[in-house]
Amino acid sequence: MTENVNLPDESATRALAALVGAKLQAGDLVYLSGELGAGKTTFAQELARALGVEEDVTSPTFTLILEYNSGRVPLLHCDAYRLEDLESEELGDTGFFDFLERRDAVRLLEWPEMVAGYLPTPTWSIEITFEGDSRRASLRKLP
Ligand SMILES: Nc1ncnc2c1ncn2[C@@H]1O[C@H](COP(=O)(O)OP(=O)(O)O)[C@@H](O)[C@H]1O
Ligand SMILES: [Mg+2]
Repeated sequence: MTENVNLPDESATRALAALVGAKLQAGDLVYLSGELGAGKTTFAQELARALGVEEDVTSPTFTLILEYNSGRVPLLHCDAYRLEDLESEELGDTGFFDFLERRDAVRLLEWPEMVAGYLPTPTWSIEITFEGDSRRASLRKLP
C-alpha cells in the first residue's frame, strides 16, 4: 500500500512521523529517503518522541549508528550516506550488519539507497520529496 501525504510545513512532517512512530514495534525496519534538507532528521526526531525517547535525537552522520533506550522499545538510527561503495567486509566493520540484526529494536535507516544491495524488505518505506515550495511524503507499508 502506497500513500502520498502533503507536507506543507514542518508540523505536517512531525505529525506524519508521530503517526508512524505510534505504530512501530520491535523488529520493525523503517527506510527514510530524501535529499538534503527534505526533513529526514525532523522526521526521525518526532518518530523517536512517539516511541517515548527522551534524549535529544541528532543526525548519525558521523557516528553512523545511534541507539536510544529511553523509549518503550529500543530505537536504532543509522545513516548510510557514507556507506556507498564499501565492500561487504568494510561494511561489516562499521556495524551495519549488526544494526540489521537487532530485532529487539525499531531500526530506522536513512539513505537506504546507498546500501541497496544488502537490504531486506522493510516494514515501512518513506520518501520525502520537494514539490515546489512544499514537500510530499510517499509512504509504503509492507504487510
Ligand atoms: N515539511 C516541511 N516543510 C518545511 N520545512 C520543513 C519541513 N520539514 C522539515 N523542514 C525544515 O527543513 C529543514 C531541514 O530539515 P532536516 O530535518 O534537517 O532535513 P534532512 O535531515 O533531510 O537534511 C529544517 O529547518 C526543518 O525545520
Ligand atoms: Mg538530516
